[in-house]
Amino acid sequence: MKVKRRSLAKTEADWGAIAAPSGYRLASAGLWDLGALQRLEKVCFPQDAWPLIELLGVLIWPNMARCKIVFGEEMVGFAAGQEIDGAGWIVTLAVHPAHRRRGLGRALLMACEQFLSHAVLRLAVRASNHAAQALYRHGGYQVVDRWPRYYVDGEDALVMEKIRG
Ligand SMILES: CC(C)(COP(=O)(O)OP(=O)(O)OC[C@H]1O[C@@H](n2cnc3c(N)ncnc32)[C@H](O)[C@@H]1OP(=O)(O)O)[C@@H](O)C(=O)NCCC(=O)NCCS
Repeated sequence: MKVKRRSLAKTEADWGAIAAPSGYRLASAGLWDLGALQRLEKVCFPQDAWPLIELLGVLIWPNMARCKIVFGEEMVGFAAGQEIDGAGWIVTLAVHPAHRRRGLGRALLMACEQFLSHAVLRLAVRASNHAAQALYRHGGYQVVDRWPRYYVDGEDALVMEKIRG
């Protein structure tokens, strides 16, 4: 995918406007989170974990939304978004299995959406990933495209989109 970036409207996210579920804290993520993010990726994306260099990029690349959810001292969720060709893309979103179905995925999605000021929001998701699709449908996204054999094992990706008024 060709990536064309321009400055996002906000340079720092005000996560305070999004309520994290009780006991959890929403915060900006940065380079210091690299080790924790690598561990979270391995647990959440056994087939698609990004290599270290891409994780590094997502944590330091300018004009990216990156937020984490912290429980105690532990990062238990992470999401990132960026502009690609004029639309805001949620490029990754994950919640540790031990902390799922508590609203963390929804909070991370809302935090990324708040940072991305674009009218059109998109993401790609495995065709078999019904949990994530349910989360996104819940957030107002619908399937608009299918990318055949997008993933390394040959599975299709569904592109989901949300248009903001
Ligand atoms: C997808 C994922 C981020 C959801 O995180 P989560 O914190 O459990 O999601 P939430 O608790 O905020 O769920 C919000 C809504 O999404 C839907 N949902 C989430 N997980 C679901 C599941 N396993 N089955 C059905 N619906 C689900 C529900 O509608 C849910 O609302 P409800 O709990 O009130 O019914 C998490 O399962 C995950 O990290 N999966 C592995 C990584 C991944 O697939 N990321 C997405 C890549 S595109």
